[in-house]
Amino acid sequence: MASLAAGGVVIIGSKLIGGSWAMLFASGGFKVKHYDIEQEQIMNALENIRKELKRLEQADSLKGSLSAEQQPSLISGCSNITEAVEGAMHIQTLLPHQ
Ligand SMILES: NC(=O)c1ccc[n+]([C@@H]2O[C@H](COP(=O)([O-])OP(=O)(O)OC[C@H]3O[C@@H](n4cnc5c(N)ncnc54)[C@H](O)[C@@H]3O)[C@@H](O)[C@H]2O)c1
Ligand SMILES: *[C@@H]1O[C@H](CO)[C@@H](O)[C@H](O)[C@H]1NC(C)=O
Repeated sequence: MASLAAGGVVIIGSKLIGGSWAMLFASGGFKVKHYDIEQEQIMNALENIRKELKRLEQADSLKGSLSAEQQPSLISGCSNITEAVEGAMHIQTLLPHQ
């Protein structure tokens, strides 16, 4: 489970790989801020994460001790990178190949 440290985790890039990391940290009880340069993609990511966590719970494959309703409440979208990283304890980037 997450430590009581105040800061949360920031995941930069919110497609398949970034979304998977966001779910993994939330399953451990960490607060996650999810940033993407495409604002629309952030909303897609949060919706996909909610669906995927429900699917995992139904398949009895959900990680961690929090439910598929509780885990997404730890993940918030943020479209401003300055605000996303403020106070973060861990920042992880998953950008496309250049
Ligand atoms: N999908 C896979 O199976 C897979 C497997 C291994 C490695 N990878 C690598 O992982 C990385 C992420 O892959 P993916 O499939 O999740 O997504 P992707 O590469 O299709 O998309 C990455 C996301 O990052 C966003 N982005 C791009 N530039 C950005 C910036 N400057 N700041 C913030 N966000 C930005 C894009 O809008 C997009 O939503 C890639 O480098 C990929 O090569 C992917
Ligand atoms: C992002 O947030 C910072 C800090 O709150 C603010 O100074 C900046 O103007 C914001 N940027 C945009 C594009 O809103």
